Amino acid sequence: MDAIDAYWSDGFPHVEGWVLDIQRTYLKLIDALQREAGITGHVAEIGVFHGKFLLALASLLTPGGKVTALDVFDDQDKNIDGAGVGSLDKLMQNVSAYGRTDVDYAYIKADSSALTLLAKVELTRDRGPFRLFSVDGCHTAEHTLADLYTAQDCLSPGGVIILDDYMQPHWPGVTQAVSLFCGSVPRVAPFLYAHHKLFFVGLGWHAHFLRACAEAYGAQESAKTTSMFGSSVLTIFP
Ligand SMILES: C[S@@+](CC[C@H](N)C(=O)[O-])C[C@H]1O[C@@H](n2cnc3c(N)ncnc32)[C@H](O)[C@@H]1O
Repeated sequence: MDAIDAYWSDGFPHVEGWVLDIQRTYLKLIDALQREAGITGHVAEIGVFHGKFLLALASLLTPGGKVTALDVFDDQDKNIDGAGVGSLDKLMQNVSAYGRTDVDYAYIKADSSALTLLAKVELTRDRGPFRLFSVDGCHTAEHTLADLYTAQDCLSPGGVIILDDYMQPHWPGVTQAVSLFCGSVPRVAPFLYAHHKLFFVGLGWHAHFLRACAEAYGAQESAKTTSMFGSSVLTIFP
């Protein structure tokens, strides 16, 4: 059994958080594409809560890989939209109960919107670069935009950014941030939108990832190839 399947049966149901069961299929496809293409790197998440998605990302690493959790944790004055109160204690309990034991975890307590350039360089040097980077912290346009730039800056070539809550009616700031980010002509482009998660990859890899998603899911009734900010995206909804 793959490590991600083991986590899905033993840990996922017990870890509190906001991750749909269906996301496992997209993670597995992206992981397989990256492995086949020789894309390497570590995993990180901004906005971890109790680790439900972080542990899924960790399950995809090779032994010795690095998992980085960045959250305000108990500094909740910086969690200005109140979407989930992060807890380092609860996260560490879940890592110890359900996490891989052959990977290296780091917990960074920080307001993601206030990371300095030096902090990002150190993050990439010490913990990255990242082949999977999840953005799920504070949902304001300002925070999400800052987090998307951080993810882009710390990404491996062929790495994928996974943004939560795009076009989620409760969090319009995320949707606004994507418009601003894509309007700034970034080095990554969206290729998959599935159940409120938007997946970006570097421009040179976009066609490859889009084609693979279309082959895997394009025949479903819920799938449609759309154009977002000039990029073709396989959109799966509902
Ligand atoms: C929606 S929850 C994340 C859910 C999580 N990804 C999961 O798998 O269930 C949002 C998280 O973002 C954190 N957060 C809020 N504002 C933040 C900020 N400015 N910087 C870093 N983390 C922040 C919160 O503490 C909370 O843990």
